[in-house]
Amino acid sequence: DFAPANHRPLYGRRLLVTAGPTHEPIDPVRYIANRSSGKQGFAIAAAAAEAGAEVLLVAGPVPLPTPPGVVRIDVETAVEMAAEVEAALPADAAIMVAAVADWRAADTRAKKIKKDGSGHVPPLALAENPDILAGLARSAKRPPLLIGFAAETNDVIDHAQAKLARKGCDWIVANDVSADPMGGETNRVHIVSKDGVDSWDRLPKQAVARKLMEKIADELDKCSP
Ligand code: CTP
Ligand code: CA
Repeated sequence: DFAPANHRPLYGRRLLVTAGPTHEPIDPVRYIANRSSGKQGFAIAAAAAEAGAEVLLVAGPVPLPTPPGVVRIDVETAVEMAAEVEAALPADAAIMVAAVADWRAADTRAKKIKKDGSGHVPPLALAENPDILAGLARSAKRPPLLIGFAAETNDVIDHAQAKLARKGCDWIVANDVSADPMGGETNRVHIVSKDGVDSWDRLPKQAVARKLMEKIADELDKCSP
């Protein structure tokens, strides 16, 4: 199942990958989360290692095995993920596949919130999480190739182009989660960059990952052979 040993186009490169959801605690027994399975991000980390890269995977809470040859750091929240991403730099490329929660509970309660029997519903105030990708784009340690992912339900290309500009990354890998639901086995991705849109057929997540590694290797070879 491994790529042949003589085909290691990312040998000598260091890649940072984020994957999975984040969990944002409300109290000790409850959290805010999303439907990310981590499968695409883990497949990308696996393909990067197969292609010879040194791979650091910052993973949200998902019950997936660590791919061979990958160094994995587990985190729970977006704030923890931001800190581990910062600590992992420098990297030749960063591939931000994680579905980072946009908001966390404004104050996490130390004790379980209890029903008081009166039908009173507790308020849930939210605070915005740091944008890890946008922060990396502005950082002095910005990786030469910075890639974001975007799961959209409509106007996929338009949203991806807007995100590319807003976040300051080099590529957005966009997919339509109404056609390929989150947690599924396939993805039909569109790679949006300043050079245009590269749309691929629907492929298993492992095939998307391998094809993406070829494209990343070509791009890195162009910039620093
Ligand atoms: N991202 C991030 N930190 C966040 C939110 C998103 O690093 N707090 C990254 C994701 O890992 C992904 C990219 O930004 O690579 C796009 O995420 P997405 O959720 O699609 O973008 P948002 O700006 O949060 O827009 P939306 O309103 O569509 O959720
Ligand atoms: Ca978001």
